[in-house]
Amino acid sequence: MGKTPRLNSGNSPSRHSNGPNRSNAPLFPGKEKDHDPSRRMFQLRKHVMTLVASVLTLGYALWEPRRLQVNHIDLKFPSFPEAFNGLRVVHFSDVHLGFHTGRKELSKLAEQIKDQQPDLICFTGDIVERQSEPMRECVPILASMTARYGKFAVLGNHDYRGQQQQDVMNMFREAGFTLLLNQHIVIERGNEKFAVVGLDDALTGEPDLDGAVTGLSESVWKLLLMHEPDYADYAAPHGFGLQLSGHSHGGQVRFPWFGAMTTPRGSRKYVQGLHYTSKPQMPVYVNRGFGMTQLPIRFLCRPELTVLHLSRDDVSER
Ligand SMILES: [Fe+2]
Repeated sequence: MGKTPRLNSGNSPSRHSNGPNRSNAPLFPGKEKDHDPSRRMFQLRKHVMTLVASVLTLGYALWEPRRLQVNHIDLKFPSFPEAFNGLRVVHFSDVHLGFHTGRKELSKLAEQIKDQQPDLICFTGDIVERQSEPMRECVPILASMTARYGKFAVLGNHDYRGQQQQDVMNMFREAGFTLLLNQHIVIERGNEKFAVVGLDDALTGEPDLDGAVTGLSESVWKLLLMHEPDYADYAAPHGFGLQLSGHSHGGQVRFPWFGAMTTPRGSRKYVQGLHYTSKPQMPVYVNRGFGMTQLPIRFLCRPELTVLHLSRDDVSER
């Protein structure tokens, strides 16, 4: 039988060559890997696929901010006033007007809020990115939001950033929001009542827990609004039923298995969704926010509108 010619490089001797090899002459000149068209195609395909995946990922990350997610959360409390059973609290946060979010986007959010038929609307800070001016044209939209027992707001760190917090506060009031800065308001129905307590921002303002609940009976069930969720550990021993917060944006960019890329100070422990403090156990719900900051993208971290359904946990019926 005759020997089959090898397709090896002309530069590298065959391992099987043993003395003069009459059939060792390469069929094709040059180095094997440089001239292999299938390898070049593989490299080209790899680069094209990486480019396509990057463009698609970026495209999605630019689009995700408009994919609002409405999350419904049921919570029961032994001391919740029975007269308010099934209370629908619509919670939104971190709109960041002036940073890729404006009148058009807020109008859509207002429609979604209206669809939820809220009993209470709660906003937990950062209505603007820095300047108060972009809020001006949004006052009529904020004014159009209505809820059976009223709408309440606290300030976030970005509301102070442009040092125009007074304008922000004025516009909130103009829009019919009750701004709670270390204050509370009692909501009554028949002989029963609960309180909404709001604190000033923890990073840039001066939260005063004791001042906020002054005059409020310890037995009254209390809902706390505070921009920074990690404040829950300080608030829990003061007898609050539930804390609502924002600030984290859920990280804004999240990766599977890894989670949030980064979260700001004040939202490193409680990043998104429902958590409980330890001793005493108080639920804190962290809304991922509606807008964005730093980068005009979201990834695996959709903007959120939360609808909390609150009722009494009647232990005696078990
Ligand atoms: Fe914030």
